[in-house]
Amino acid sequence: MSHPVAVVTGASRGIGRQFCVDLASAGYDVVCAARSSAASPGALPGTIDDTARAVEARGRRALPVTLDVRDEDAIEALARRIESELGRCDVLVNNAAVAPPGPALDAATKRWRLAVDVNLNGPFYLVYHLRRLLEAAEGGGRVVNISSGAAETPGFGRVSYTTTKRGLEAMTQALAHDLRGKVAVNCIQLDLAVWTEGFDATLPDSFDTSGFEDPVIMSDALLYILKHDLEFTGRVLKTTEMRAQGAIRPVTSISR
Ligand SMILES: NC(=O)c1ccc[n+]([C@@H]2O[C@H](COP(=O)([O-])OP(=O)(O)OC[C@H]3O[C@@H](n4cnc5c(N)ncnc54)[C@H](OP(=O)(O)O)[C@@H]3O)[C@@H](O)[C@H]2O)c1
Repeated sequence: MSHPVAVVTGASRGIGRQFCVDLASAGYDVVCAARSSAASPGALPGTIDDTARAVEARGRRALPVTLDVRDEDAIEALARRIESELGRCDVLVNNAAVAPPGPALDAATKRWRLAVDVNLNGPFYLVYHLRRLLEAAEGGGRVVNISSGAAETPGFGRVSYTTTKRGLEAMTQALAHDLRGKVAVNCIQLDLAVWTEGFDATLPDSFDTSGFEDPVIMSDALLYILKHDLEFTGRVLKTTEMRAQGAIRPVTSISR
């Protein structure tokens, strides 16, 4: 009997890396997808190969995959590769995202397109091309999308981030409707601040991040959702409410 397989986008650092490690501890083989690799690192720390090693250190199989989620052809090829190399796909976590800095109306429109391509089109392409494998998963497949409190609380200039995250929540509900009984589709709305390399890089040097939490709280939320059956679908779950219900551990801090 093969182990269940989870695909995580944005796996090179931050919350995505944490998801990969904790899914491995929970018994999943993990496809670790992002652009930064040992052969072609990004500007920030972390690569899919580092994450894959952390998965393997927990005794599970890792498939590090260089992927730009804007590239639909690459996603189609990834689905074929997962089928031939791992033979199944049980869970998809759409975690990769960008939050273009600066007011959207003062930036070039290519920044708007970047947010739409990464935060909305990528998650749709992934569900589209992995759908057959997800539907074939034992007990049904699971998709978990990662949204933000910004979906509901627009901040100055955050037009593309707010719009795409709200869109991802709507996509969650619409896909849950269409895939009901075959694939559960849910969304975690992270309405707390979690310290990650990517988030930190967008903040001014003097910004006080002492109240930021550990990415592990997002693994609590993800594993809580994965414990449920297929009837648990179409939900947008806020982290503050999940914590109040005991699904996420008490307040964490991160030491750096
Ligand atoms: N941190 C927070 O407090 C917070 C709050 C609310 C919501 N969120 C959400 O939580 C998720 C993770 O956030 P984070 O803070 O961990 O972000 P992060 O540290 O910036 O990491 C983002 C990840 O996405 C990947 N990525 C970016 N563009 C990509 C592309 N075109 N194709 C493939 N991968 C791409 C990056 O890898 P490469 O650069 O290697 O491709 C990286 O692994 C995001 O959906 C974010 O919106 C975070």
